[in-house]
Amino acid sequence: MPKDLSKIKYHETILSTVGQTPLVRLNKITKGLKPSVFAKVEFFNPGGSVKDRIGIGIIEEAEREGRLKPGGTIVEATSGNTGLGLAIAAAVKGYHCIFTMPDKMSIEKIRLLRAFGAEVIVTPTAVPHESPESYTEVAKRIVRETPNSILANQYYNPKNPEAHYLTTGPEIWEQTGGQITHFVCGIGTGGTITGTGRYLKEKNPAIKVIGIDPKGSVLREYFYTKKFSPVFKTYKVEGIGQDYVPGVLQFQFVDDVIEVTDRESFLMARRMTREEGIFVGGSAGTAMAGALKYAERLSGDDIVVVLLPDTGERYLSKIYNDDWMRENRFLIPEKITIGYVLESKRGVPVLVSIDPAATVRKALDLINEHNVSQLPVIDNGTVVGSVDESDLMSAVIANPATFDAPVSTVMKPPFPSVGRDEPINHAIAFLSKKHPAVLVEDGKKVVGIVTRYDVIEYMSR
Ligand SMILES: Cc1ncc(COP(=O)(O)O)c(C=O)c1O
Repeated sequence: MPKDLSKIKYHETILSTVGQTPLVRLNKITKGLKPSVFAKVEFFNPGGSVKDRIGIGIIEEAEREGRLKPGGTIVEATSGNTGLGLAIAAAVKGYHCIFTMPDKMSIEKIRLLRAFGAEVIVTPTAVPHESPESYTEVAKRIVRETPNSILANQYYNPKNPEAHYLTTGPEIWEQTGGQITHFVCGIGTGGTITGTGRYLKEKNPAIKVIGIDPKGSVLREYFYTKKFSPVFKTYKVEGIGQDYVPGVLQFQFVDDVIEVTDRESFLMARRMTREEGIFVGGSAGTAMAGALKYAERLSGDDIVVVLLPDTGERYLSKIYNDDWMRENRFLIPEKITIGYVLESKRGVPVLVSIDPAATVRKALDLINEHNVSQLPVIDNGTVVGSVDESDLMSAVIANPATFDAPVSTVMKPPFPSVGRDEPINHAIAFLSKKHPAVLVEDGKKVVGIVTRYDVIEYMSR
């Protein structure tokens, strides 16, 4: 049979798969709130983020104006996602890409861009945007020095908000049957909020557009006061917040700006993944946390759409890595429990113990092997005593035969025990010269040991 391509349902290139992302109802995270809340899930785009929407428009405009010719180079300062959107379009159209990225961005994003053949230049995060070292200034310099190159310039390029005016806004309007009452999204360049907000307000001026800003960014302060303090503060969430007001951001389409901390953002992103099964990045957590704060004041008639910009896969080494979360103090519970300190121990096992019938030599070997100073003595699950390195050493120096004596002949009374859910200060009250360690119990079972050193090490972190 001769082939008939007209019967095959396909896309001419990957580029036409951008957009038409689904709206997903949120069911658990919104418990107790009156309005219906829906997520516009942008990781369904081929590059896994909302920024795929702006790449094509920017490139095609530069082609139309003759600024970008075959074999040309696309340069951009990006937190990663815009770079990927541009890299996908550049791959299809045959352009080279050079991206500058601040060093706070995740390693996954750098690797992704390099996977597309892009050159990535990492610049310092903790410099003002006008500094020659900043990612935006380095990108401008590269364009000056590279023939047949363009700066995509998402912060000032009207094609950025236009992509959202032409796609994101109409999709949300249609998907909600024109019933949306509140649109919530984070602000990075401001392209999403400006383009989508403008479209929705043109359709129905009563729709409220709520921007979410990470704590440390200047945008909320600027929204309310039309000025901002020049003190530069960093924060860890990627892709949103600014230390200046980008050219494409038009606050006339924004009704309120809510502030959200890094900790709230990251814990919310993890909840979205674990409770709703929607695996998102940190800025989606920011948007969601802000939306939930705002939704408390809304009624059962309201329909809220929250835009979730990108996938959590980009942050496996950070938000979804408990060690990174703990190091940055994002996982600290409201009440620090002894169990929490136990789980945070570094480089030593949570429990090394010895049997009372084992020899002193064996006890010293364990102390040496695990680099600990004391051991609980446990007989078939029951704590019967304790030994510590200085006592054992004194005993074997006084009488070398002690090396082969059972631990039970030299052990001291057991260390005090604390329940794993008890606050850390209960353990601190026990830790003294007399008790260098406490045992941590879960029910009646000993699950670990926390020493004076562990507590000091935890606190200094
Ligand atoms: C992860 C992430 N979230 C949110 C945004 C913000 O979108 P916009 O630049 O349209 O304000 C960006 C922009 O780079 C981003 O990378």
